Amino acid sequence: MATEYLKDGMVIGLGTGRTAAFAIRRIGALVADGMSFTAVSTSESSTKLADSLGINVSTLDEHPVIDVTIDGADEVDPQLELVKGKGGALLREKIIAASTRTEIIVVDEAKLVRTLGEKEAIPVEILKFGHVSTLSRLSRLECTVDLRMDGDRPFVTDNGNYIADCRFKPIDEPHRLQGQINTIPGVVDNGLFLGIAKIVLVGTKSGVSEMKRKR
Ligand code: A5P
Repeated sequence: MATEYLKDGMVIGLGTGRTAAFAIRRIGALVADGMSFTAVSTSESSTKLADSLGINVSTLDEHPVIDVTIDGADEVDPQLELVKGKGGALLREKIIAASTRTEIIVVDEAKLVRTLGEKEAIPVEILKFGHVSTLSRLSRLECTVDLRMDGDRPFVTDNGNYIADCRFKPIDEPHRLQGQINTIPGVVDNGLFLGIAKIVLVGTKSGVSEMKRKR
């Protein structure tokens, strides 16, 4: 259980998505039992859930160092590199992960891949301004690009931006691709989370297995 890594008084990061929501409910139960945390949240939806459970939510500016963040992921490779952002919160998730001492990712075994990009598109957060040009430049990276929709309108992130879902062939050089994506004008950040996860907890039929980053 990821919440076993939490100690009374810690500054903790709250992820986004179904798995993170499960963890937030567990944290709410710990708070109800008398534990105390200061939380920093990766999305408006997680903030709302945490507030409803009586978890003290502060800001990253007030708490720039986070002890432990618990979040989900969309793909995890054997090196503990990730794809995140299907829930649209990748930018705040990445900023908070970068400020976190121990980033714990919780997934089920269906999210394990040999190579990133095998199953999922890479979400890329882009500015609304000039987004048609940005989508066109992204598509030149040998991927198919879809502007993420919310009904008949583009999906808008908590930061007021759009998401381009970029489907690549399995990604052999994720660091190189990350650089290529992020140098396109109009790109804010992308859903490749490299060198970030310290611990991955994998739910399987027979229990939870733990993967740890070696260095
Ligand atoms: C949110 O933007 C995402 O990064 C989620 O953490 C990721 O999509 C995993 O979500 P689930 O736990 O809902 O599968």
